Amino acid sequence: LDSRRSALVIISHDRRFLSNLSRSTAWLDRGQISQIDRGFSAFEAWRDEVLAEEERDQHKLDRKIVNEEHWLRYGVSGRRKRNVKRLGNLQALRDQRRNYRAAAGNANLAAAEADKSGKLIIEAKNIGRTYGERKIVDGFSIRVQRGDRIGIVGPNGAGKTTLVDMLTGAKPPDTGTIRFGANIEMATLDQHRESLDPKSTLAEALTGGRGDSVMVGGKPKHVVSYMKDFLFAQEQMRTPLEVLSGGERGRLMLARALAKPSNLLVLDEPTNDLDLETLDVLEEMLGDYEGTVILISHDRDFLDRVVTSVIAPEGDGRWIEYAGGYTDMLAQRGADLKREAVKTAAVERDKDATASAPSGTSKRRLNFNEKHALETLPKTIAKLQAEIAKQQRHLDDPNLYRKDRKKFEQASAALSKAQMELEAAEDKWLELEVLREEIEQA
Ligand SMILES: Nc1ncnc2c1ncn2[C@@H]1O[C@H](COP(=O)(O)OP(=O)(O)O)[C@@H](O)[C@H]1O
Ligand SMILES: [Mg+2]
Repeated sequence: LDSRRSALVIISHDRRFLSNLSRSTAWLDRGQISQIDRGFSAFEAWRDEVLAEEERDQHKLDRKIVNEEHWLRYGVSGRRKRNVKRLGNLQALRDQRRNYRAAAGNANLAAAEADKSGKLIIEAKNIGRTYGERKIVDGFSIRVQRGDRIGIVGPNGAGKTTLVDMLTGAKPPDTGTIRFGANIEMATLDQHRESLDPKSTLAEALTGGRGDSVMVGGKPKHVVSYMKDFLFAQEQMRTPLEVLSGGERGRLMLARALAKPSNLLVLDEPTNDLDLETLDVLEEMLGDYEGTVILISHDRDFLDRVVTSVIAPEGDGRWIEYAGGYTDMLAQRGADLKREAVKTAAVERDKDATASAPSGTSKRRLNFNEKHALETLPKTIAKLQAEIAKQQRHLDDPNLYRKDRKKFEQASAALSKAQMELEAAEDKWLELEVLREEIEQA
């Protein structure tokens, strides 16, 4: 998408994807749309500022007003702040894991002793599985220790689910051995979500139809309060499952999986349907979780926030574990992967260029319109740049949105219009410059 010239409108919950591609962000919140002319990477800080200000206003208005929606909203925004803190701790965990892996070679005895106390969760040696001619997993070894948070990435059909099924004992490997630690209690959220009676209610699905409480990690908790943890409103208690939205269903499945007492949590693509708020809840839950986590996900940002190591497919059934998050994995192996991707994108662009360039450019001359455009475009570009700077100055006032929403929206619209025109003008100028050079060299 990045190499396309056309305008893009993207609806997504994937933070990294949005940050990489967006230049302007629209936020639909309680029926109102507001927009900033900056990409998603600037969005969350801005939104938090808007919400914080709203909260201050609200407190001024009436300190006693505490409604459900308010709770949901600020509960979530507080959560995000805590999650940022938790990222620091994750760093320490990753270092531990890196050090352990570095030291593992000469610390076999100590490790073997530690096994008995339940530090070892899973040990796989040279496991493999083949479907027909295709090697899905070939000679993979890993030691999963208590407290590890292991992410598994890879394209659809790469074999992530197959690998996890072997690691959790759901399906035995064709070759190799697997050993499990003592007292493992596993909770799973599988990719093909379990089926529940569509006529039963949200509360019933959580309590199992028994009373008003959910057993969360072995302790009873009132179903309404557990529902709130997962951003459901009290009024949704009696909502039949068949009318839940896809995202709400995903949230419910997560709530069920996380309530089970467990010390090993296996989540197969749990992030697929989740919105940003629910992702934050999940991140928080996993941060508090004491046990071991194996997580398959396509959400790069989420992996960066949660996991201590990443397993990635290298082709031909080879899988390698990298210490750290998704970004660390890319840094360790990604150079190749990235260059490959850039190369294909460049080739695509070249193809476009050859396809759209008029044939025999070297023989032709610039026509009058082209010459005129080449001369006047720099002035147009300078004008547009000045306009952008002007609108940007208006928008840099963080209070503008509150003070004068109309002006804010006008400035936003003017800014994006100027940006679009600037881009078009620059493209046109560049195209003509290239053409001129080609003609002069011919
Ligand atoms: N029982 C099976 N028989 C044959 N092929 C299978 C079987 N199970 C999975 N596969 C194939 O193995 C590949 C990996 O599947 P899977 O582990 O589910 O991928 P992922 O979870 O990474 O998307 C896919 O191409 C799938 O079609
Ligand atoms: Mg899968």
